[in-house]
Amino acid sequence: MCGIVGYVGHDNAGPILINGLKRLEYRGYDSAGIAVWQTDDDIRVTREIGKVKNLAANVSPEEEDAGTGISHTRWATHGGVTELNAHPHRSWDKQIYLAHNGVIENYETLKSMLLSEGVTFYSETDSEVLANLIAFNLASQRGKVTTKSVQKAIRASLNLVEGTYGLAIMCASVPGTLFGARKGSPLILGVGKHEMMLASDASAIRARTSEVVYLDDNQLVTLTDERFTITTSDDSEVKPEISTLHWRDDEADLAGYEHYMLKEIYEQPSAVENAFRGRLDIEEGTSKFGGLNLTRQQIRQIDRILIVACGTAWHSGLVGEYLIEKYARIPVEVEYASEFRYRNTPMEKNTLVIVISQSGETIDTLEAQREARRKGYHVIGIINNVGSTIARENDGGIFQHSGPEIGVASTKAFTSQLTILSMLALYLGRTRDLSYTDGCEMLDAFKSLPGLVSQTLELAPAIEKIAKKFAHYDDFLFLGRLELFPVALEGALKLKEISYIHAEGYPSAEMKHGPIALISEKCPSLVLAPDDETLRKNLSSIQEVRARKGKVIVVTDSNEVPASLADELVIIPKAHPCIRPILMTIPLQLISYYIAVELGRDVDKPRNLAKSVTVE
Ligand code: AGP
Repeated sequence: MCGIVGYVGHDNAGPILINGLKRLEYRGYDSAGIAVWQTDDDIRVTREIGKVKNLAANVSPEEEDAGTGISHTRWATHGGVTELNAHPHRSWDKQIYLAHNGVIENYETLKSMLLSEGVTFYSETDSEVLANLIAFNLASQRGKVTTKSVQKAIRASLNLVEGTYGLAIMCASVPGTLFGARKGSPLILGVGKHEMMLASDASAIRARTSEVVYLDDNQLVTLTDERFTITTSDDSEVKPEISTLHWRDDEADLAGYEHYMLKEIYEQPSAVENAFRGRLDIEEGTSKFGGLNLTRQQIRQIDRILIVACGTAWHSGLVGEYLIEKYARIPVEVEYASEFRYRNTPMEKNTLVIVISQSGETIDTLEAQREARRKGYHVIGIINNVGSTIARENDGGIFQHSGPEIGVASTKAFTSQLTILSMLALYLGRTRDLSYTDGCEMLDAFKSLPGLVSQTLELAPAIEKIAKKFAHYDDFLFLGRLELFPVALEGALKLKEISYIHAEGYPSAEMKHGPIALISEKCPSLVLAPDDETLRKNLSSIQEVRARKGKVIVVTDSNEVPASLADELVIIPKAHPCIRPILMTIPLQLISYYIAVELGRDVDKPRNLAKSVTVE
């Protein structure tokens, strides 16, 4: 959580930093701030509670002829949402200015030590402790403050720190220079023409340059407008690897949509196509993946799969469990990454671990991956963000190529993950018992998917009307069976996240084991009723809800659901079961979106949330 941006170059830093922060706002939006050099060699700090637009309204960047600055958008951890707790933080002696993403776990011990030395504090944050610690270590050195002495003070301070950090730092005695460091929180260096940048992710840099260096943990970078050096914890210099970003800056624009979430919902035809492009092997009736880094032999030897993820990505893992077990007959388990990390899950020798993460930066998933690799398991990732830490650290993987997902509520990343998991089920199935004919049917399904997604999206106006009727309920149940149970969970999560309506997902038949007690005219249900062997059972569940005066929205691909049985009937196109969960998801995304809009919620930046969860 939290986004940081730093700039050093010949342009005015103010507007560049503000634009960068706008791109990173998905990482947190409790407060925002910038610290920039003024012409008079003074550093000015401006901080505002709330979104970046509040900050932008209070700085006049065009007046600031500053070529160097740092900035921050906050998701509060230590200390309330106040201006004093907003970043950048300044040391008591006005030497060090710092923007921090992460958590300093031992900040209380460090603070006591600094207090006993007479250092003063103005905020409740762990980050101010770090600013003061660096300044304290700098002041302890004799002689003139130089780039070298600042580097030394930063390194000495970081050696005392337990926790995670991505940092952008300025020192008042070393103008025209920025310092950055990372451990556990992402940090990217942008290499431009006569300018350099630091940022939590590439979206904040892309408007200025496409050349980036992904920094590794424990690296310290020092940058001026013309050059940069990266050193490791033993102070040896690292030869940087410069990567080129391949997505365009305008991909992160609203393109005329009112919200990123809606834009991303409508991007799903191309997101699913990007997920399967170049991966369908028509001749062999299977799919193919270039980056798994496993031989055919090793793939045949997999006797168990463990999927690890968080939130929406965990839901896609659950759908994957049903699909892989159905088509490849390999036992699959799905764990929350945060649980996996702290329990000693018994695993078979030939377990393949799959981590799923849109951002590739979720700390729980990253640490779970590290734990699995430490134990010697082969870990592959299904990741959207190509340069992310998870993507760079795993043994292989499948990139989603969904393009940037900005809306906090994940939409296109989820359906893209489902597409990939379904193709993986086909691939694994074809190394075992799945027939060529069955494989070809699945390939046909993938080819038809973008068109079917587009057709499903045409239901949006009808779903908007339904949403308006249902926007004022306080509770919802989402019900589905088999691979649609996790889709029900995802539908409930979407509604909770962006509308703040309490919602729960259940396997339809579980309703009568408890949740049915919630049913009344005040608690509607959304039932996923596919045209398969469970249809009759689902129709019975609907009857049970109706008998208790519960209103029912039915989403189905069957023509056999009597209109009289549902208060609202949403009929989606028929499709092969391997892609049906994708199509069933779309009406759920739309209904949540339109309910949130009807309630006047901040759809792209719902309260308390951040897109990328980089604290445990
Ligand atoms: C999705 O709508 C959520 N905002 C959240 O659950 C998210 O899916 C989760 O934090 C995992 O993120 P990741 O895919 O980037 O790892």
